[in-house]
Amino acid sequence: MKFAHDFLFGAATASYQVEGAWDQDGKGPTNWDEFTKIPGKTFEGTNGDVAVDHYNRYKEDIALMAEMGLESYRFSISWARIFPNGTGEINQKGIDFYNNLIDECLKYGIVPFVTLYHWDLPLALEKEGAWLNKATGDAYVEFAKLCFNEFGDRVKHFITFNETVVFCALGYMAGAHPPGIQNDPKKYFQATHNVFYAHAKAVIEYKKLNQFGEIGLSHVFSPAFGVDDSEESHFAAMHANQFSMNWFYDPILLGKYPEYVVKQLQEEGNLPDWTDEELQTIFEAAPLNDFMGLNYYQPQRVEKIQGDVEARTITRENSTGSPGNPSYDNVYRTVKMADKKYTKWDWEISPEGFVGGLEMLKEHYGQIKLYITENGLGDEDPIIEGEVCDIPRINFIKEHLGAVKEAVRRGVHIKGYYAWSAIDLLSWLNGYKKQYGFIYVDHQNGLARKKKASFHWFKDVIATRGEDI
Ligand code: BG6
Repeated sequence: MKFAHDFLFGAATASYQVEGAWDQDGKGPTNWDEFTKIPGKTFEGTNGDVAVDHYNRYKEDIALMAEMGLESYRFSISWARIFPNGTGEINQKGIDFYNNLIDECLKYGIVPFVTLYHWDLPLALEKEGAWLNKATGDAYVEFAKLCFNEFGDRVKHFITFNETVVFCALGYMAGAHPPGIQNDPKKYFQATHNVFYAHAKAVIEYKKLNQFGEIGLSHVFSPAFGVDDSEESHFAAMHANQFSMNWFYDPILLGKYPEYVVKQLQEEGNLPDWTDEELQTIFEAAPLNDFMGLNYYQPQRVEKIQGDVEARTITRENSTGSPGNPSYDNVYRTVKMADKKYTKWDWEISPEGFVGGLEMLKEHYGQIKLYITENGLGDEDPIIEGEVCDIPRINFIKEHLGAVKEAVRRGVHIKGYYAWSAIDLLSWLNGYKKQYGFIYVDHQNGLARKKKASFHWFKDVIATRGEDI
């Protein structure tokens, strides 16, 4: 089986992780420009001031993507390049940069797939309360509208937000992302609601413009499975899926929050403050949402916590995606299992979990349109005789594309696959040590680009539409 001709083979990046040029051409500062300068927050104090300088080298990078045969490039827009203060004054040079980037993609027939928010918030809005302040949502909608008006003639795929769970959980529970707040579930759930409301308003605004493109949102896709077949483990998996999947997917796809979670939040006093108008808007936007983007790296293996647990402290070290943490309500914990395979960063490698999760999604939400907007292997790539031999990455992507193919065969509606990432980039908390790209960046040699083994392999996959996968 080959992948259909309207299935997009792509790769992704995000502005803060690749662009650099943090104060060039009138860009305003962001939460991440500030946060990464706080001692101890990132691996060896790395930051995105220069990143891989995609801002100045985008032509070279897009030419390489074109050489790879990439059909689509998913990138994000840095809000502070366009609105240096988050709202109000507009920086034309920021708009020009994204127009140039989009045009450069189109020159090669690469479909631009644009994320509006991939975590870099203008600092002025961060200082005013970030996602806890409903005014941030209003400013976001203004920013989104400007992007639709400026770029929507050529961009036909918009993602409103990337991974609400990550920037809210790491921002308000783990304290590992800005604003660095720990263990505050009330704030965490409030922030997620404010994001869903902003998403809903942006979707409604987009549809008013009749641009005949599509709009959706990308979520982490980390389906939970019990560690065994016991009743407790089934319960733990159900509970985990309610809190990490349904809470995030239901408002977007069904236009309402899952009752199971709402009930518990009510009992705990963690229910977000929301108005009838906000809930109604979320309800009205759901049928206008065109697709869901899934970022799949690994499933969760969960077990029910029995008896008393010690109060938990989440730190940067234990919040980086490896299993071992109890849930915020101490109902279940994620577990590393002896019979599973893991990456160097302890993320499980499970194409089977991917297929199983996709089936679960289909069962719950029906035939929704999906894009795999991120999937990839974080590794330290070996260099042998000057060549970047990222064979584990090839194996990882091969197995996961195989899972996508299997899911399509079983009737899951998947329209594209975006590897994370197009080029090596800054990992938020792991610096440049953890690599994901098809294109290597030599930090010892003026950020020179080099094609990895996976570059040639993926080129062949695209050319043959994955026939051999
Ligand atoms: C996703 C993000 O959560 O995972 C990316 O959307 C991120 O921005 C990727 O880089 C990999 O995470 P990490 O921690 O391995 O860099």
